[in-house]
Amino acid sequence: MHATISIPTYVKSARLKAWVMDMAELLKPDNIHWCDGSQAEYDRFCEELVKSGTFTKLDSEKRPGCFLARSDPSDVARVEDRTYICSVKKEDAGPTNNWMDPKEMKATLGKLFDGAMKGRTLYVIPFSMGPIGSPISYIGYEITDSLYVVTNMKLMTRMGRAVDEALGDSDTFVPCLHSVGMPLEPGQKDIPWPCNPTVKYIVHFPEERLIWSYGSGYGGNALLGKKCLALRIASVIGRDEGWMAEHMLILGVTDPKGRKTYVAAAFPSACGKTNFAMLIPPKEIEGWKVTTIGDDIAWLKPAADGKLYAINPEAGYFGVAPGTNYKTNPNAMISCSKNTIFTNVALTDDGDVWWEGMDGEPPAHAIDWQGNDWTPGCGRKAAHPNSRFTAPAGQNPAIDPDWENPKGVPISALVFGGRRSTVPPLVYQPLSWAFGVYAAATMGSEMTAAAFGNIGQVRRDPMAMIPFCGYHMGAYFNHWLDMGRKFPIPPRIFCVNWFRKDKDGNFLWPGYGENMRVLKWIVERSNGSARAVEGPLGYSPTYEDLDWRGLDFTREQFDAVMSVDREEWMKELVSHEELFIKLFDKLPKELLSVRDLLISGLYRSPSKWQPPEYGTVNS
Ligand code: GTP
Ligand code: SPV
Ligand code: MN
Repeated sequence: MHATISIPTYVKSARLKAWVMDMAELLKPDNIHWCDGSQAEYDRFCEELVKSGTFTKLDSEKRPGCFLARSDPSDVARVEDRTYICSVKKEDAGPTNNWMDPKEMKATLGKLFDGAMKGRTLYVIPFSMGPIGSPISYIGYEITDSLYVVTNMKLMTRMGRAVDEALGDSDTFVPCLHSVGMPLEPGQKDIPWPCNPTVKYIVHFPEERLIWSYGSGYGGNALLGKKCLALRIASVIGRDEGWMAEHMLILGVTDPKGRKTYVAAAFPSACGKTNFAMLIPPKEIEGWKVTTIGDDIAWLKPAADGKLYAINPEAGYFGVAPGTNYKTNPNAMISCSKNTIFTNVALTDDGDVWWEGMDGEPPAHAIDWQGNDWTPGCGRKAAHPNSRFTAPAGQNPAIDPDWENPKGVPISALVFGGRRSTVPPLVYQPLSWAFGVYAAATMGSEMTAAAFGNIGQVRRDPMAMIPFCGYHMGAYFNHWLDMGRKFPIPPRIFCVNWFRKDKDGNFLWPGYGENMRVLKWIVERSNGSARAVEGPLGYSPTYEDLDWRGLDFTREQFDAVMSVDREEWMKELVSHEELFIKLFDKLPKELLSVRDLLISGLYRSPSKWQPPEYGTVNS
């Protein structure tokens, strides 16, 4: 026996109703609940999660409306080796994605999903990526058996009845199927974090615009509106329709004259997007202000006025906790001060949360992310390195007034930055759109705890999209080159690296709020008012071109973060070859020409290039 469905009368879409009924028949849940997205429903779900042991309610004065969840220790990050792009043809997924024939995958997963929700409730989550009812938004429906997912989706998306009403009788939505993959036998007791410890699949069917996820309850594996819909599926839609879905933050910069410039920036997972999006300029950089549009995903669309417009499809932040404090990111600290779900951080004895790198002294005692006693010096981390906070975007004090504008904001500059302890300099501006696409396409970054893999190992992460591009990476590069041709003046492209280190492993650049000095140059450069010199990689600021008010940073220190070592860069270019050979069948030829020109530039450059002193060259 399994549950009967009562579909709310305001749900009109025939395709939607048929899909939910089909899935219910396959999944065989005990109950079915169609989420209305109300606050009352959210509160009830949180209470249920507290009762079942998944959530711990935090102290209502220290963290009002906040909960802590601890995941299974095996379910703490995205699983890239279990993530598939099941296009009809293998060559459309390309060599950087896992692929399986869609029919075969459906047969495999069909067996797993059969009865997967026995003993559980099936929740239907109507959600909109982008403001509800806006022409640029996409509606998705996630079927899940995880209340943790439901509550997180409420914070991360626009969710509930208003989405059903916006869909009306239309058939246009992305079906997203999710199960933790742990059905309950009659009488079997549930556990706080159900998941399937051995079998996980995160699967996309790009032609059908369909998502199936099995076995994990964590972040990007389970909150299917985010990486699965808004990046992997949306990147395919964008390719077909002439726009781009990117792993980018979006910010606004207001200068002392009140002029506003919008910038989007792609950094790989856990490499500083949230920090940069919420940046507070040093007080000495008087009159400059940064506001946040988004911290993780940008949809970029060319408009009739010849500009590129960006919207943030999300409604919340799923931010990295460790390292976040009132010095590095006060706006993030305020954003997660209430109405927030924390995952895998430590619990203090007074009912608050703690993580490595939070302000002040570590607590004398805490419960760590695995539920064990923790004391400073015990040799273990209190919070998992990929522990996260889920907070509503509206709680960010620096939220931009236009963050929900369905038209988006006009982008003047695109920034790319990996985490590299050596090689790429603090900042440079590639010579043109094509040179910029080359630099972005060949970006390298040291892997972080955001995904299972070899942490610290440098890998090529083109446009910070290696885990998120829903089609052939070579075709994606071509789409980028093509997009540049749509604008009379394309946005300027810049490359940054906040993470360069000295021989002893210390960061050479102070980072965080101090990144404003680089951002200011980028903004002025995009608007045509900042000076630059030509270097082997493109245009660079000299020491005199950055605003140093309030920071003691010497010319020698600047040279150390800005230098371009010829031998290192020649090796770097050789390593690009590896990526290009991999993508050979669809790699745009322009990129090979750019590579030759870069080699030619490096060939004649000194063994260690650094920005010349002001006045020693023409600019
Ligand atoms: P995802 O949410 O995984 O896509 O990542 P994100 O890019 O939003 O990551 P986030 O901004 O949360 O980055 C977190 C990590 O980057 C933390 O370890 C920070 O301490 C570190 N970080 C951010 N900005 C800087 C910086 O300017 N300098 C240095 N050294 N570290 C930084
Ligand atoms: C990332 O890994 O880039 C994230 C976190 O933004 S997750 O949603 O888990 O993918
Ligand atoms: Mn991300």
